[in-house]
Amino acid sequence: PGIEVTLMVNGSQFRMALDPRVTLLDALRDGLGLTGSKKGCDQGQCGACTVLVNGRRINSCLSLAIMHDGDEVTTIEGLGTVEDLHPVQAAFVAHDGLQCGYCTPGQICSAVGAIDEFRQGLPSHVSRELGPPLLTDDEIRERMSGNICRCAAYPNIVAAIREVME
Ligand code: FES
Repeated sequence: PGIEVTLMVNGSQFRMALDPRVTLLDALRDGLGLTGSKKGCDQGQCGACTVLVNGRRINSCLSLAIMHDGDEVTTIEGLGTVEDLHPVQAAFVAHDGLQCGYCTPGQICSAVGAIDEFRQGLPSHVSRELGPPLLTDDEIRERMSGNICRCAAYPNIVAAIREVME
């Protein structure tokens, strides 16, 4: 029973029969065993469950898995490996952008999405040689405001994102 859904997750294709009430977060965690994405509030308020869907960040706790048939989903497990960290992961390590670490997968997925959104929003005449315009720290905070950190590692998170953008 259930509705057949095909998801591309971190480059691999998965076909699942899902109860229509299952969220993308639960499908990832319980269905595929990808427990990197965290369930903090399960109500769209904390951002711990953030993943990238077709390159855009979403709160996976708010989205039904059956809505994502054919979508490409990237979770923290798909961003980098221990030997080969994604630049945002490396920057979080370098800047101590975490304390307990619970919000970190969501923070990093969100940061990847935020940096991408910013770069894609730049006008095409912005020259690489001149260097792209940067976000202020307040603008980074605003773009990351959907991701809560109860240890309040915010200054280091902003520093990590700033480093990647520069
Ligand atoms: Fe999804 Fe908190 S668990 S926003």
